[in-house]
Amino acid sequence: MKVSVIGIGHVGLVTAACMAEWGHDVIGFDNDPAKITSVENRQVPFHEPGLRDLVLTGVDAGRITVTGDPSVALDDRDVVFICVGTPKGKDGAPNLTYVQAAAAMVATHATKPTVVAEKSTVPVQTGERIKQALGLQAKSTGGSTQHAVVSNPEFLREGSAVQDTLFPDRVVVGADGEAPHRIMRELYQPLLDGHDCPYVATDVKTAELIKHASNAFLATKISFINAVARVCEMTGADVHTVADAMGHDARIGRAFLNAGLGYGGSCFPKDVEAFIHIAADLGYDFGLLRETERINREAKLWPVVQLRRLLWNIGDKEVAVLGLAFKPHTDDIREAPALEVIESLIEEGTQVRLHDPVALPQVADRWGDKVRLCETAEEAVRGAHAVVTCTEWPEYAEITAPQLAEWLEFPVVVDARNVWDPEGLVAVGIQLASVGRRMP
Ligand code: UDX
Repeated sequence: MKVSVIGIGHVGLVTAACMAEWGHDVIGFDNDPAKITSVENRQVPFHEPGLRDLVLTGVDAGRITVTGDPSVALDDRDVVFICVGTPKGKDGAPNLTYVQAAAAMVATHATKPTVVAEKSTVPVQTGERIKQALGLQAKSTGGSTQHAVVSNPEFLREGSAVQDTLFPDRVVVGADGEAPHRIMRELYQPLLDGHDCPYVATDVKTAELIKHASNAFLATKISFINAVARVCEMTGADVHTVADAMGHDARIGRAFLNAGLGYGGSCFPKDVEAFIHIAADLGYDFGLLRETERINREAKLWPVVQLRRLLWNIGDKEVAVLGLAFKPHTDDIREAPALEVIESLIEEGTQVRLHDPVALPQVADRWGDKVRLCETAEEAVRGAHAVVTCTEWPEYAEITAPQLAEWLEFPVVVDARNVWDPEGLVAVGIQLASVGRRMP
């Protein structure tokens, strides 16, 4: 089928590459020339494992092209995905101006009636707004009024976005009417032929809510285990064992029960806030989610509280921060909890040494000489008074307890992502704070 993807950021480029992998003819559109040039130069504009290979396979097979010209992007398309950003606007409500602009672009340039699929995370009822925008623009430009609007939320995680899209747990499509459902089913048939997963066909509003409910639930799961971690710390119980044992219950599941520094990234913080806001607008106070947010804010403050406990004054100390990205296997630092840790340390006057395997270029000029960017974890830790882990990159787990003990000036470790086994660290004389872990 002929597909267009408007917005080739994290969601859009992965969508484009996977659609091409399923044999569709895909055009990626972006109004950021840097993104277009990047793909034309056989690169991808961000770090995402496996994506470059998949994009290049599509490009070499002639199934993916990119353009900054809307009339090329929207010529003779069966399905058009809207994958533009929905940044946080005023009061936590998402800013949907890019979505509206994308709809207007379809109404103006599409050469035939098409299925407009919203993939950007949007508030419930955005589908109706898109329909409205399509209608208004069609009236003013004389374009087609026959476009259908569907909601097809993505559930891809950065760092495993390609796998999550090629082998999803479910495909959700919300459409009002048989015809768009038939087209979307045909679009996903190559995936469904090779991979056994439920295909949830529903109406537009329900599909929009599935996305909100899923992300808000996962964020709540994380805050729940972080709250349990606090109680573990007060009682000497071990949160890791609690999470494992809870996870054995099939009704609960082990995923997203890793206690740590809280959730960050481009989705959970924004989606939870948006869901609270949408519910409030509709007259419902989603207090549970407000508490999810409160616990998350508290989780991000935890490392500095622990540093003060272990070092007393921290303004005259040098602290190594390991990890900047909001999670491993990505260079994305949007809402990364590490940012808050670093900024709190800077405010105290602490000298920070920072390492991350891929995300450092994102902060090249951000903090001047208050933060030393280090090429290796060893460079950051050697001679520091303490180390704080903010992202659980696998390479940090390979640093041994004796190495930490030797490298550090003071034997102080604040393991905010539970990277290391407490037994090993305590055995070599390290004073350790781990999130909710039992101390030997
Ligand atoms: C998320 C959703 O998982 C995905 O389905 C959605 O479509 C987009 O948002 P993403 O933001 O890429 O994906 O990352 P995710 O793996 O969900 O992690 C989000 C945050 O939660 C990270 O900061 C991560 O460190 C944190 N997290 C995750 C925990 O603190 N504990 C956990 O157990 C899991």
